[in-house]
Amino acid sequence: MKNIITIDGPSGAGKSTIAKLLAKKLGYKYLDTGALYRVVAWKADDAHIDPDNEEELDRVLENIKITFDDNRILVNGIDVTSQIRNPDIGELSSKVSAKPAVRARLFSIQRELGLQGKAVIEGRDTGTVIFPESENKFFLDASFEQRGKRRHKELKESGKIDDKTTLEDIIEGIKTRDNRDSTRQNAPLKRTDDMLYVDTTDLTLEEVVAKMIGALK
Ligand code: DC
Repeated sequence: MKNIITIDGPSGAGKSTIAKLLAKKLGYKYLDTGALYRVVAWKADDAHIDPDNEEELDRVLENIKITFDDNRILVNGIDVTSQIRNPDIGELSSKVSAKPAVRARLFSIQRELGLQGKAVIEGRDTGTVIFPESENKFFLDASFEQRGKRRHKELKESGKIDDKTTLEDIIEGIKTRDNRDSTRQNAPLKRTDDMLYVDTTDLTLEEVVAKMIGALK
């Protein structure tokens, strides 16, 4: 399968920005799978559900309708695009994403969305679990320092953190999340031999995208 391009990697490696740019250049659709986990976290928070209560999480997911409308993401008609980017929702999304029931529910949603046409799909398990049959798989990475700087800038610019939050705080948060995302039992973040590894630390967006386009089958 060549029509689906998967991009996996840890947070702050540049996946979203690069996936969007690549999709635009190729005329493909773009799917940010992390947003789906963030939606589940938002919903759990909104409904005051304990993130460790898998049964309740599953029940909530039964009645959830997630729709993408241009660049907006809606949950049962409510626009949550901005709210799901809050750092506490990011942390909570990493927790709920470790639950098998959550992953099972989101699996079919991701397959359906991906199979609607040519698509660039980014996340933690898109090349290993969601579209293992893809022939165009990438793994993006960057140093902790660089990932922290990017995340810090992004959160500062969107007003999601206050002046007291330091770069060191952000890097600590990234390390905790990396550890949880890579060591969970169910679909952990994993780099496999069939993925092209790209270290984005010292590359510009254009350089990364050019490298990826050059490697496409
Ligand atoms: O990429 P992100 O920061 O928006 O992802 C939020 C969380 O969702 C991340 O910490 C782990 C989880 N996630 C996942 O488990 N599998 C994916 N394919 C994408 C995200």
